[in-house]
This record gives sequence, structure tokens and C-alpha cells, in this order.
Amino acid sequence: MSKIEVTGLRKSYVERRRRKRFLSQCKQYEDCQVLDGITFSIPAGTFACFVGPSGCGKSTMFRIVSGFERPSSGTVLIDGQEVTGPGSKHVCVFQEDGLFPWFTAAQNIAMGLSKSSSSDVAKKVEDYLELVGLSGFGGHYPHELSGGMRRRAEVARALITNPEILFMDEPFGALDFVTRLQMREEMVNVHQMFDMTILFITHDIDEALQLGDRIIMLSDRPSRVAWDIRLDDPHPRDLSTGHLSRLRKEIYYRMGLHVAL
Ligand SMILES: Nc1ncnc2c1ncn2[C@@H]1O[C@H](COP(=O)(O)OP(=O)(O)OP(=O)(O)O)[C@@H](O)[C@H]1O
Ligand SMILES: [Mg+2]
Repeated sequence: MSKIEVTGLRKSYVERRRRKRFLSQCKQYEDCQVLDGITFSIPAGTFACFVGPSGCGKSTMFRIVSGFERPSSGTVLIDGQEVTGPGSKHVCVFQEDGLFPWFTAAQNIAMGLSKSSSSDVAKKVEDYLELVGLSGFGGHYPHELSGGMRRRAEVARALITNPEILFMDEPFGALDFVTRLQMREEMVNVHQMFDMTILFITHDIDEALQLGDRIIMLSDRPSRVAWDIRLDDPHPRDLSTGHLSRLRKEIYYRMGLHVAL
């Protein structure tokens, strides 16, 4: 059975438009369709990357699949149960900084463990700080950490809750190139260590090719699944030769980018 089964997902928003020729006063309401029948199925333990043009509805789709928003039509099943709201099995990491600025890194990470005793919490937080390479920084507040360290703390805060599904919406988009490469490597390790299904949105085709067991490419809005790619290449992956290099070119081509890469 699939871990996540998405069938015929459609989503429209009502868009308000002013029309100048009616003295800027007349507002017109138009139905704006974002998702147009998204269908895919993800087996447990898959690292699935989602790519697609900006504004095509990737974040909208994530909010629906993670239960924070309702679709206009279509269904989302997790472990065969329809998703009707946020659940305890999954956790989300978004592009924006999500740490509480008034808590230290350790206190932020401990937030998922409120029911454990304080000595258990301290030990576990220390383990997760080490896992993401932040040993010794638990007492630092977010403003005392670099962007990459804050992302690591957020990944640790997500992992410590032991989620079955981890949703990541462009989590490394704001980081510099080298830090992004390091975070990619860490995500490969995290995925190999934990028995977890990861859904990961990225604008970066190379990131998707480095990380994904699946790459699901969405079309322009109203979006559909344009291409569903399965990858079983071992890590670390070399994108400069062989079929990954050809696949990379083909993805760029299908996205309408005909530049030599
Ligand atoms: N709450 C909302 N009300 C009205 N329109 C919305 C709402 N949320 C999203 N949209 C519209 O839906 C479309 C898709 O937005 P979404 O953020 O899902 O795109 P995206 O693929 O994640 O884009 P990006 O790659 O830039 O993050 C956009 O045109 C956006 O304006
Ligand atoms: Mg988005």
C-alpha cells in the first residue's frame, strides 16, 4: 500500500480583480485554478522531490497534502485514511525561518518532546544537535546562528518528533551554494538513517537529482503532473555524466529552458 495517495487534486482560489475602465471601483471576482487534477502515489520510505515553475501550485499542493488546506476536489490518503486536517504523523519545514527567536536552539528543538522528563529531553536534544552538526550551539539564540545553522536546528526540531512523513518546502532556498551542498549531503544521510517518507519541494533541478528516489515535475498553472521520474542511483550521485546528465538536460528542456547546460 502507498504511504501517500493523491488522486485528482484540484484547487481554485477566488481572485479579486479591479477593472480600471470602470473607474477603479468595480471589483471583479474570478475563479483562478491552481491545481488541475494532480495524481501521484508515494510508497513509504521514498524521498520524493517536486519541481515546477514558480507559482504553479507546489506550496498549495503541500498545504493540502499535509492537511492545512482543503482541496476544491480530489482526495489525499495517508496510510489509506483520508486527510481532513493536520496530523501527528507528519511535520513541515518551510523556506522561512521557523525557529522561535526568544528560545535557544536547544529549547526550539525540545519543543516536540514536551511529554518526556527533563533529563530525557536534555539527552535527546544533545543527540539531535550532534546529528545535525550543532554540538556546542544548543545555548545559542537563533540570531546568534548562521542561516545554515538555523536550518540545521529546524531539521533537528522536525526529526526529534520522529515523524513518519517530513514535508520540506524549499528548505535550503535562501542558503549560499556551499551550505546548500552540505545540507543536501546531510539530507541523504538523514533519509538513510531514519525510516521516513520525505516530500521535498525545490527549484533546483540538481538538488532534486541528487536527493530524489522520485522527481515529480509539475506543469505551469493550472498544474498537472507533467513527468513522474523514478531514480534508483546510489549516493553520492555524479550528475556530470551518464543517464543523470541526460536526464538533467531533458528536465531543463521540458521546463522550456533550451540553453546549453
Ligand atoms: N490563499 C490564496 N488565495 C489566493 N490565491 C492563492 C492563495 N495561495 C496561493 N494562491 C495562488 O496560487 C498560485 C500558486 O501559489 P503557490 O504558492 O502554491 O505556488 P508555488 O508553486 O509554491 O510557487 P513558488 O515556486 O514561487 O513558491 C499563485 O498564483 C498564488 O497567487
Ligand atoms: Mg512555494
